[in-house]
Amino acid sequence: MRIYSRRVKAIGGYLNLQLPALEEYYPSLVKLNTGRNALEYLLIVNAYSCIYIPYFTCEVIMEPIRKLGIQYHFYTLDRNLDPIVDFEIEATDCFLYTNYFGVKQLTVNTLAKMGMDLIVDNSQAFFSKPLHGINTFYSCRKFFGVPDGAYLQTNELIATKLERDISYERMSHLLISIDQSIEKGYDSFKANNDILSNKPIRRMSFLTEYLLKSIDYESCREARNRNFKILHDALSDKNQLAIDNSSINGPLCYPLLTNKENIKKKLISRRVFVPIYWPNVFKWTTDKMFENYLAQNLVPLPIDHRHNEEDMERIINYLKQML
Ligand SMILES: Cc1ncc(COP(=O)(O)O)c(C=O)c1O
Repeated sequence: MRIYSRRVKAIGGYLNLQLPALEEYYPSLVKLNTGRNALEYLLIVNAYSCIYIPYFTCEVIMEPIRKLGIQYHFYTLDRNLDPIVDFEIEATDCFLYTNYFGVKQLTVNTLAKMGMDLIVDNSQAFFSKPLHGINTFYSCRKFFGVPDGAYLQTNELIATKLERDISYERMSHLLISIDQSIEKGYDSFKANNDILSNKPIRRMSFLTEYLLKSIDYESCREARNRNFKILHDALSDKNQLAIDNSSINGPLCYPLLTNKENIKKKLISRRVFVPIYWPNVFKWTTDKMFENYLAQNLVPLPIDHRHNEEDMERIINYLKQML
């Protein structure tokens, strides 16, 4: 008996998880399983011999670099999170820059005009559209409740057909946080995060694609802009980071830099959850370096679409007592 594949529409059977069928935000970009694998894709198709990466980035960026055995050099940032480029970049090298917190689009614009082989890591800047002809990747799970997923703008495509990923087993934290609480799902979040390490490059799973098609992106973007502005208006005079908010476009968080002690701990105890960007930076830098100071003292305040003005006022009130 012939078994029909998924390409033939199923009729009947049990019902599946039902979500709105809307549009993806980047329907024409290459869809992959993770951001780090999008970087690996770029390193392979361009056959770069060396990559420049910032000291201030996430450890998983190293996964594709180690896997492919590509030479790498770290570079430093100035106090505005702009790269200090005081070295020669050869024609076979590439330069990775992270659009930090989604607030560095003006720097991305400047770097794109410098003529180097630029790779833009927009993992923290989902809503910042890729510049024409510039290699750019996105990681979806930093902005939305999806298990994985990445978008990639690339001028070159991998010649072989990639297998499709399967992500349903990495969904538990997304479900537990709804059914129980964000705290109860945290161990699953960490476990599902760890499982993403050292996976082959695959196409985005059907499940992730389905989830990404159910999102009202414009309302998410607007909520982030509104919340960012509320925090910026209240906190910019206490913030050691000078933020140019003229190009704000659905950023990741409000990055507050302050050397007041234990702010993160105090916020977490009040159920305002703030991550560390990034623990590996302590290993990579000395305590005299700005990147080390950033990793120590940056408080990434949540501004995502789940939150309203009242939530922002709560954060501001807590911080008033601490700053
Ligand atoms: C700045 C940055 N770039 C890239 C990545 C990789 O994204 P993914 O987890 O989708 O591989 C991460 C985090 O994991 C990140 O924080």
